[in-house]
Order: sequence, then structure tokens, then C-alpha cells
Amino acid sequence: MNIQHSKLVKLLQLAYSAEKAAAFAYIGHAGSVRNPDEKVAIKQIEMDEWQHRETVLSIMQRYDIPPSRYYEIKYHIIGRIISCSCYVIGWFMPYYFAGRLESGNVCEYFIMLRYFNEIEISEHDGVLYEMGMKEKEHEVYFQKSLEHNPLLPLFERIFGWGSKSSFNDVDLDNKSSVEESTGYCKR
Ligand SMILES: [Fe+2]
Ligand SMILES: [Fe+2]
Repeated sequence: MNIQHSKLVKLLQLAYSAEKAAAFAYIGHAGSVRNPDEKVAIKQIEMDEWQHRETVLSIMQRYDIPPSRYYEIKYHIIGRIISCSCYVIGWFMPYYFAGRLESGNVCEYFIMLRYFNEIEISEHDGVLYEMGMKEKEHEVYFQKSLEHNPLLPLFERIFGWGSKSSFNDVDLDNKSSVEESTGYCKR
């Protein structure tokens, strides 16, 4: 079965490749931090991203959607560059930009869920919801780690993400149900 929804096809291909970039980036990130607890936490996030990539691929295969070669190469390079840069830019920046990136990723999956629903497919709602929530957990991990950092207020003002600002409206302490989650990310 093929799907007639070009935005959805593009979003799936993008998410598939971007998950690889994220996983690569976290390899460098985990390698560059000294604190063993942080290493373990970031390693776990890397594993989550590989799992997301696999899940997205399995959905794509259902509809004969091939990975985009362009995105695969582009995000491979981006992931590798970020991975290496973690060793030279200190502790704060990888934490900050990982959190900021995760914040944007949350909506990808809720928007995908909505696109599928637009073409009357709801069987992926559960996994897409779980992936969106997992990205939110990643965001919150970085947010909490940065919470008391004196650089955060300045970066928050410049880059628009931090302890008070987020790129999504998901609240882990007050989650919408899978059905209600179509209301997320409408801004
Ligand atoms: Fe992910
Ligand atoms: Fe993530």
C-alpha cells in the first residue's frame, strides 16, 4: 500500500535520517563527558535514537517508502561533525544544543501521527505517541541537567530554549492520552 501524503512521506524520511544524526552525535557526546552517570544516561539516549530509527523504518517499509539518499548522506555528515565537536566545545554546549534539538523533535512524531490520521491510518498512533514522549523525556533530561547552570539564561535569551521555553507543548507531568495527543504541536 502506498500513501498519498507527500508531507508525511518527507517527514518519515527526515525523521529516519535525523535519528541517525542524533545517535552519532550522542556517541561523541557520551564519549566526551567525564561523569560516569552522564555517560550512562547519554548512552541510553543514543540507544533510544537507534530504536526510533528502526521503528520509523519499519513504518516506512509498510508503505514502500525508501530512505532518502540525500537525507541519509546529509545527516550522516551532520551527525559525525557534531559527534567530533563534542570533544572540543566543552560540557555546556553539547548539553544545551542536544536539549534544544530534542525539544524540536518532540513535535515531529505528534505531527506525523496527525498526518497519518488525515489519511485514515491510526494503527501507528501508539508507537508515534511513545516516540514523541521519549523525545520529551530526552529534552527534560538535558533541561534538568542545565537547570542551575549560570550560562543558561543567556543562551535561553539568544537561542529561545531553556528552563522556561520549549518548542513543544507536551507536559510529562500532565500527559494527554494517545487520542488527545492530536492536540499537541499545533502552534
Ligand atoms: Fe529519537
Ligand atoms: Fe531524542
